[in-house]
Amino acid sequence: MRIVLGVGGGIAAYKVASLLRLFTEAGHSVTVIPTEASTRFVGVATWEALSGHPVTNNVFDDVQNVNHVRLGHEADLMVVAPATADLLAKAATGQANDLLSTTLLMARGPVLFVPAMHTEMWQHAATRANVATLRARGGTVLEPAGGRLTGKDSGPGRLPEPAEIFAAALALTGTNPSGAASLAGRTVTITAGGTREPLDPVRFLGNRSSGKQGVALAAAALAAGARVRLICAHLEVPTPAGVELVSVETALELRAATLDAAADSDVVIMAAAVADFRPDRSSDSKIKKRDDVADPVITLVRNPDILAELVHERNARQRRQLIIGFAAETGDDHGNVLDYALAKLTRKGCDLLVVNQVGVDRVFGQDRNEVVILDRGGKAPLEVSGSKAEVAAAVVREIDARRTGTWPSDAASNRANAHRGPARPLD
Ligand code: CTP
Repeated sequence: MRIVLGVGGGIAAYKVASLLRLFTEAGHSVTVIPTEASTRFVGVATWEALSGHPVTNNVFDDVQNVNHVRLGHEADLMVVAPATADLLAKAATGQANDLLSTTLLMARGPVLFVPAMHTEMWQHAATRANVATLRARGGTVLEPAGGRLTGKDSGPGRLPEPAEIFAAALALTGTNPSGAASLAGRTVTITAGGTREPLDPVRFLGNRSSGKQGVALAAAALAAGARVRLICAHLEVPTPAGVELVSVETALELRAATLDAAADSDVVIMAAAVADFRPDRSSDSKIKKRDDVADPVITLVRNPDILAELVHERNARQRRQLIIGFAAETGDDHGNVLDYALAKLTRKGCDLLVVNQVGVDRVFGQDRNEVVILDRGGKAPLEVSGSKAEVAAAVVREIDARRTGTWPSDAASNRANAHRGPARPLD
């Protein structure tokens, strides 16, 4: 979807950077048009870096492309956030004296205004009349949130949270990144990133995972209406606003956090790259080179298989829960990627397995992904290639499609079955 994001001159402009990330992570192309005043709060460079598109607020830049006409006509959606009292007044009276206001007059798709201002300004008769005019014309004006404002005052006037704006924007276009898929009312736990297994206070054994695919899954599940918990090992990308975060470092920490979170989750997605082995011991002090003793030898011990444990727990407690694994495979002389993946699906017992073919320059850290989604229920393998956001959207659609199969009823029944206690001890 092509989105024009108009940014007004209010302090809440800084929060709109998170909104922009939610849009781009979900795979949308966003052109930001900040007002002149707003660039005193957040600069053009920030919008260009985050959107990946050039940014201007001047109608006289790039005149030959008649930007306001092109942007207004091409936009599937316009979002104005923060919509200041001034911007609402301009839009209501049809003023057109900068790129944002002219583009608003050219827009043919839905327009979402997200006001943020002091309570008195929001409640002033002039603002009320402008809001009523915009709504009467078919525009959508969100109600601001209540709470602490910039100064000591509080009341209605705060910008709603980016995740709420994101959801409202997608609802307005009747789409979410996962098509018609809805995970409303579901609790989804996602693990992401690479675990780190310490050798000493400064060194660790790690892996090349950036966490991009897990974070894209969190954004897609959030956009589909789920409550999302993201259990983060080492990530190289920011996390979407609106998800509950749990930070971990090692495979054992990830195991404890995930088994705990699974107790009330409808869906668990193991996108993290979990170290299969850890050093048998971690030194409390830095390991030093010494000429009088032999160089150290690292002995590795096996980490527990969290995915297999999740499946075991789910079955033992008769939870109605979908469990999704990822498989990173290279293939070798003994078998191809798919042979290994099918064997892994059977061995791990999860419901879906998202299979990547990996290599040093394939998958890890890249923005694109090619996967095959295997279904234990016997559905034909589904090949998906595209951005990690598109792959995430496909996974969310597959999850939603399981509603008629082993789809869990609700997290509440899981909680009732949970008998939460300490996770099973390690073997
Ligand atoms: N996984 C896990 N616990 C581990 C290792 C992996 O839960 N100790 C999960 C990963 O998050 C992923 C899936 O298992 O969802 C498959 O990971 P992968 O590394 O491909 O498989 P392994 O089980 O490690 O098998 P192998 O290394 O033998 O291919």
